[in-house]
This record gives sequence, structure tokens and C-alpha cells, in this order.
Amino acid sequence: MSNILTNTYKLADGNEIPLVGLGTYLLDDPNKMDTAVTAAYEAGYRLFDTAQLYQNEALLGEAIRKLGINRNQIFITDKITEMNQGYDLTINSAEYSLQQLGTDYFDLLLVHWPISDKFFDTWRAFEELKKQGKAKSIGVSNFTQTHLQLLKTQATEMPVLNQIETHPYLTQRPMVEFDKQESILTQAWSPLGRGLVLDNPMIAKMADHHNRSVAQIVLRWQLQRGVAVIPKSQTTSRIQANIDLDFKLSDDEMTMIDILNKNQRTGNEPELVYETGNQY
Ligand SMILES: NC(=O)c1ccc[n+]([C@@H]2O[C@H](COP(=O)([O-])OP(=O)(O)OC[C@H]3O[C@@H](n4cnc5c(N)ncnc54)[C@H](OP(=O)(O)O)[C@@H]3O)[C@@H](O)[C@H]2O)c1
Repeated sequence: MSNILTNTYKLADGNEIPLVGLGTYLLDDPNKMDTAVTAAYEAGYRLFDTAQLYQNEALLGEAIRKLGINRNQIFITDKITEMNQGYDLTINSAEYSLQQLGTDYFDLLLVHWPISDKFFDTWRAFEELKKQGKAKSIGVSNFTQTHLQLLKTQATEMPVLNQIETHPYLTQRPMVEFDKQESILTQAWSPLGRGLVLDNPMIAKMADHHNRSVAQIVLRWQLQRGVAVIPKSQTTSRIQANIDLDFKLSDDEMTMIDILNKNQRTGNEPELVYETGNQY
């Protein structure tokens, strides 16, 4: 699917995306953000994931500017929150987010959650933002197979990426397979299950065997099954470890992690957000 070693993947629209990025949820003060972004950049990260909901776009933009590099050396993902969905609000709030970030384009813009009453209007705005060059790539987050099939009935172009919660306790195998069939890259949010999976004894044994940490085993498992990752950390040593994934799990090890699934979510159930229009 991709070249894990060079850390990029060609999306269906032809744009390249790094397979490992830094999540920034809860990086909400300038020092934390600057430290994390600098450590990540030095460790080789080029993708930074934010959202209108995180209220840290300006902090991220500032931290990136302080790196003193060209804009095209960095990949920024942003997400339109539920409150800002619908055609006009999506267009206007995207403009505001660009101002906050201090840039004139998103590398990737995502619909943060599907919501029923704004569903098609929001996507129409996404297609327009792509046409205008304000979003180089457009995608979705927390979409199920049903949501993607519904979108297909009216979309002019389909999302190139679906960012979903997935980790060893929520493997989402059918969803990942479906995305693959539709040429949509799956990207894992909470790829470490927000820490939930880090004390799993079976993965700990595997980690000992490879002389790696549990987090590294889990992230490597994600990449090896074709899923991109955006682990969040504000700890320099963890940020470095989370992109140091140049080792291989055997087929048996892959299967042993696959079967840990227990459909355990750390976040919201997409179908409920779709119906109610809000995270709860
Ligand atoms: N699309 C969506 O709806 C959605 C929802 C949630 C999140 N996201 C995105 O996905 C990103 C990642 O998800 P997440 O933040 O929920 O969870 P996560 O990345 O699975 O886990 C983050 C937690 O794990 C710890 N951690 C990170 N690396 C570690 C390591 N090597 N060893 C031990 N602990 C480690 C972090 O602690 P420290 O920071 O203290 O090091 C933090 O507490 C978010 O930041 C956000 O950008 C998207």
C-alpha cells in the first residue's frame, strides 16, 4: 500500500501524506505546543493534526512558524466541528481556521463527525474548498460504511481519508477493509487507545521480545495492517519513540494483536453523533 520506510502514502487524489503524524488534542498551552512540535519535527514528523474543537489552531500555527521552515515542508490536518457544519458555516469557519493557523491552505480538511441534517451540504462545501485550493485534500472522520455509502449517492468526489478510532481493543477490521476497497486511507485516532492498551500483558511480552515499547508494537501493528497513525504525546522521549517504527512484526504476532478486539471505544459512537448532531 505504501512505503512505510519513507513514511508517506499516495492518496487517491495524488497527494502524498505522511503515515505517522502528531496528534495535538489537549496540547492547549503555548509551551506544551512549542515543545511537542519542535521535538516532533526534529524526530522526523511532518504531519500535525488539529481540529476546530481543540481550540489550539493558533498555537499550532505559531509553533510551526517558529520552526522557520517553508510551509510546503509541513502537512496540516484540520477538522470542521459539528457546530460549524452546513454549506456557509463550513466555508466561513474554514476561512477563520486558516487565519488562526496563519496559512492559506490545509493539506487535509476533515468533516469531524457525520451529522444527519448537514450531511450533504457540508460535503458540497468541502468540494468547493478543494476547488478553490484552500484544502489540498478532503476527507472525513468517524464515518461508518453506511455514511460513506450514503455520501457516495451525491458526492462529486469521495473522501480520500477516513480518520476513525481504532486500536487493539477496537480493531474495526471490516471498516478498514471497506475503506481500502474504496481507495480511502484509514487513519487511526487514539491509535494507542488513549493509553488503554499499554498495559496489555501479551503485547508487553511481544515488546520485550523486540526490545521495543508496547506503544511501538501497537503503532507498528497499525502501519503493517495499512492504517496511518497520529499518536499524541507531549513527552519528548515518547514523541521520538512513536515514529521510530522501523522493525517488523511476524504474521503470527499481527494475528495475536488482531484478536484482542473487544469493540471497546474511548470516544463517541458515530451513529449516535450522526443522529443527535452533537458529541455527548
Ligand atoms: N477525529 C476524531 O474524532 C478524534 C478524536 C480523538 C482524537 N483525535 C486525534 O487523534 C490524536 C491521538 O488520539 P488521542 O490523543 O486521543 O490518544 P492516543 O494518541 O492513543 O494516546 C495519547 C495518550 O497516550 C500517551 N502516550 C503517547 N505515546 C506514548 C508512549 N510512547 N508510551 C506511553 N504513553 C504514551 C500520551 O501521554 P503524554 O502526552 O503525557 O506523553 C497520552 O496520554 C489526538 O491528539 C487528536 O489529534 C481525533
